[in-house]
Amino acid sequence: MDSMLSVKDITMHYDQSQILYGVSLDVSIGEISCVLGPNGVGKTSLLRVLSGLKTSTTGSYNLGGKSVTGLRSDVLARKGVSYVPQGRDIFPLLTVEENLEVGFACLPYSDRYIPESIFEMFPVLKQMMKRRGGDLSGGQQQQLAIARALITRPNFLLLDEPTEGIQPSIIKEIGEVLGELKKEGKMAIILVEQFFDFAFELGDYFSVMERGVFTLQGDKQSLTKEKLKDAVSI
Ligand SMILES: Nc1ncnc2c1ncn2[C@@H]1O[C@H](COP(=O)(O)OP(=O)(O)OP(=O)(O)O)[C@@H](O)[C@H]1O
Ligand SMILES: [Mg+2]
Repeated sequence: MDSMLSVKDITMHYDQSQILYGVSLDVSIGEISCVLGPNGVGKTSLLRVLSGLKTSTTGSYNLGGKSVTGLRSDVLARKGVSYVPQGRDIFPLLTVEENLEVGFACLPYSDRYIPESIFEMFPVLKQMMKRRGGDLSGGQQQQLAIARALITRPNFLLLDEPTEGIQPSIIKEIGEVLGELKKEGKMAIILVEQFFDFAFELGDYFSVMERGVFTLQGDKQSLTKEKLKDAVSI
């Protein structure tokens, strides 16, 4: 219960238009919780609330049993929340090294170094440290975005469609890294995905979103693959 990310009855608006209509989710350390669903239903909007980029209109948000409702992204980052945005948001003119160092902002000075484990996970980044972010392939940029998020040694990792537009070999590598992180058991991971098989392989818990609500939620044991796939493809 203590090492948990938990949201209850979250609603959220962009100006007058309501996007989320009462969304609840609990994720524990060592688990991967997947949010599935078609385009435009509010998956990214939910991650924006969880990362503090957008505040919810109503509802509660707790980390480790303490309320963080309404706190801003820089505060949540210091509380261990790290976000890998959809589309990756790599700085094209900064080098790979400089892109990684962007993640230092919320760390105390003594922790501002790139752990060797990052290069063990993503060896390609070590070779490309002095190259510009914009010169990397889409898949390499995604790896860089995940690495940048891991620089802060987060307890709560939010990933928004990390396989989108990426070649199969790199998708496989990313899947292995996420599987490894889950096995280490030090973080709770929320994975927004539209690549069903990728999500099903990694996930422990699944939530299917339709127009701002979860229409189906459950763990891997209680949901069959077929039932989940049907719910996603409606
Ligand atoms: N900044 C914004 N201002 C107003 N409306 C927005 C904004 N961002 C997103 N929306 C709207 O909110 C709804 C949900 O968008 P969101 O990006 O959360 O969906 P999504 O499930 O992540 O979709 P996708 O799978 O395409 O990434 C959409 O109707 C979208 O047009
Ligand atoms: Mg999205």
